[in-house]
Amino acid sequence: MPSILLFGVTGLVGCKFLLASHVVLALKEEYPNLPVTVFLRNNALDVYLYETAGVQRIVHGTFDERDKIIALAKEHDVVINVGSSWDVPLSEAIVEGLNQQPETKKKTLMHMSGAGNFVDKRWTDGAFHPEAKIWDDNNPEDMKLINPSMLNGGPDTVILNAGKRGKIGTYIVFPSGIYGEAAGPVPALGVVQLIFREKAKELGFVPYIGEGSAIFNCLHVNAIAPFMLKVLDLALQDDTPQGSVYERCFLIGGEEIPWKNASEAFAKVLHTEGLVPSPQARSVTLEEAGEGELPMLMASNVMFASRRAEKLGYKHNEVGLVEFLSQSR
Ligand SMILES: NC(=O)c1ccc[n+]([C@@H]2O[C@H](COP(=O)([O-])OP(=O)(O)OC[C@H]3O[C@@H](n4cnc5c(N)ncnc54)[C@H](OP(=O)(O)O)[C@@H]3O)[C@@H](O)[C@H]2O)c1
Ligand SMILES: *[C@@H]1O[C@H](CO)[C@@H](O)[C@H](O)[C@H]1NC(C)=O
Repeated sequence: MPSILLFGVTGLVGCKFLLASHVVLALKEEYPNLPVTVFLRNNALDVYLYETAGVQRIVHGTFDERDKIIALAKEHDVVINVGSSWDVPLSEAIVEGLNQQPETKKKTLMHMSGAGNFVDKRWTDGAFHPEAKIWDDNNPEDMKLINPSMLNGGPDTVILNAGKRGKIGTYIVFPSGIYGEAAGPVPALGVVQLIFREKAKELGFVPYIGEGSAIFNCLHVNAIAPFMLKVLDLALQDDTPQGSVYERCFLIGGEEIPWKNASEAFAKVLHTEGLVPSPQARSVTLEEAGEGELPMLMASNVMFASRRAEKLGYKHNEVGLVEFLSQSR
């Protein structure tokens, strides 16, 4: 029975994944009890993780503990990283550990990256541009364009290169912006909901850029775990990974909405929470929106097709972002 090592278990995605993986995998005859090791820095969750989530082993540490991560990756058949899509040394340590296993042994790396890679920066005026590139996860030529200058491209490149050398079966999932509530005891917001809050605190209002018609693709966190399980099934199914590394990349998303609509919905929630004085979002220029990932994302369009993910069974049937946020007020 393959062993799994999971990074990011206390995050918005990680927690959902762990809970789902136990509920769903328990039903599967092939994998009655995949032994899961979690690596986390939070010391207060051991009882929950052992007793409720049913993990087999807990290792405490942070992503900069390279030797510890190498040693752990060396001991596990499958490593799942839903902890960081930015941390290059973390991905390097995981790859190093997996590569230290015997050459003939099957080893798998499932990595969560992000669709922030696919921002079309030819336009940064916050407007919709119909000529913006539509990325296709079923087109290896598109996936070959992934490079370290992209938002999550550093770790992606490390992983794609490791997969090309042929010793590790690599699978990369690129979700767009994620909303929803965490499943476990840690109220994780996840990256996008967090940076909206931080930007609102910094500026004193919720911004959008220009006319705000640029496309924001976003998905509910509940759509992710079922798909990750399908990717895991795919990874476990064959003795050797099928296709090239570029044919093991999956873009997943949900509704496409104008950034202005997203910002307006966040403004209402953050106003209710007392974080900003106005329930209205405000149009600014990219410069006025200041530093960080959120202005960069808001300024441009992210458009993609999930053909490969859909072939594997990806579906998004969850409530949209605006409805989700209006329910959470
Ligand atoms: N949320 C989104 O909108 C979105 C969109 C696209 C891609 N992604 C990517 O998907 C992955 C999961 O996202 P998420 O929203 O679930 O993220 P998240 O809620 O921020 O969770 C990150 C997880 O990684 C852990 N972590 C972070 N830095 C660590 C460190 N130095 N040492 C040990 N643990 C550390 C966190 O632990 P603590 O609880 O201890 O902080 C947490 O468990 C990330 O790679 C993210 O970039 C997210
Ligand atoms: C965006 O908001 C406008 C104004 O409230 C609304 O008419 C439009 O339907 C919204 N678009 C989407 C895709 O939700």
